[in-house]
Amino acid sequence: MSQGHAGGSSSARPPRFGVRLAGTGTCIPRTKVTNADLEKVMETTDEWITQRTGIKSRYIYKKELGETTAHFAIGAARAALADAGMTGADIDLVVVATMTTDAPTPSTSCIVSHAIGTHAAGGLDINGACSGFVYSLNVVHDMIKGGAYRNILLIGADRITQHVEFSTWGRGTSVLFGDGAGAIVVRATDDPSKGLLAQAMHCDGGGAKHLFIPASKEDFPNPADYEERKLNRVYMNGGAVFKFAVGTFSTLIEQTLEKAGLKAEDVDHYVCHQSNARILAAARERFGLPAEKLHVNIDHFGNTVAASIPLAFDEIRKAGRVHEGQKVMFLAFGAGLTWGSSLWQL
Ligand code: COA
Repeated sequence: MSQGHAGGSSSARPPRFGVRLAGTGTCIPRTKVTNADLEKVMETTDEWITQRTGIKSRYIYKKELGETTAHFAIGAARAALADAGMTGADIDLVVVATMTTDAPTPSTSCIVSHAIGTHAAGGLDINGACSGFVYSLNVVHDMIKGGAYRNILLIGADRITQHVEFSTWGRGTSVLFGDGAGAIVVRATDDPSKGLLAQAMHCDGGGAKHLFIPASKEDFPNPADYEERKLNRVYMNGGAVFKFAVGTFSTLIEQTLEKAGLKAEDVDHYVCHQSNARILAAARERFGLPAEKLHVNIDHFGNTVAASIPLAFDEIRKAGRVHEGQKVMFLAFGAGLTWGSSLWQL
């Protein structure tokens, strides 16, 4: 058999390899804010928040503590590298899913790449709002599978509470969110069975104005809605987003299972974006999933945008519930409107 050689007509085919999730880590703000704390600064109650959302507390950044999006991203990156037994020098590319970079430029990934001491590894920010981590996971997988990269550090980091107001005026959104970051080291492996079994990425800009952050008066679809204090604050049509989320979650799970030729019970963990405990419960009931297969941690983190999925995955991993050979479906929806899934064979 011909052995490919330089200048020859035959070439060696790249060896078949898979992709694996090698280490996880998180970084959250130092300040925990309970529903009782919120009762002191706005007209709300623990009962209202708990019944509508399942949230009991969240972690909120403090500017004076230096808690920027990059700060959280770097903390999560370092923790994930330590968990994987690697250093920054091993990383080929840093990808940060975020919609709250600290400045339009440089990107958060450039700051992380420098802070963890990569050898000038590339840096890429991806904005898919709450779907950003799932979008990025699919992109990162295929970049490794394509053969150009071996070790990618993927981080979901957001400091969304800079865009809400902790007052009675802002209570419709401020009680929902929290800040933080989670990271996963994604690596090439010689085992070709590991990696993505199915994926999906969707968006519908027709629903953009159901959930967005207005930057100017012209951003308001209805000029009568404009008020200066609404600028740079999350604007949400809660009922419309709720309806979109419940429908999307079920369809997304069904379509992703179908692509992979699997049944709902074949998947060991559903790691979902944490936006509302009622939305997660509806998905769990629809597919008859036991509670331990669909992890809910919104009670202590709130909705942390792109950080919510890696925060949840790290929690179940560190609890010893994730094992090689299992199947895990990551699922998210968010502003854009966006939605996506990533079904892995670990
Ligand atoms: N505390 C007390 N009352 C509040 C409140 C708060 N924090 N926020 C709003 N209210 C009031 C409203 O002013 C309204 O009062 P009114 O009837 O006197 O006008 C009342 O509670 C009901 O508000 P409503 O918006 O109808 O509540 P809801 O049952 O639809 O729940 C959400 C609101 C936001 C919890 C719900 O719509 C939701 O979860 N939507 C999806 C949000 C989401 O997932 N976003 C992120 C996507 S990534």
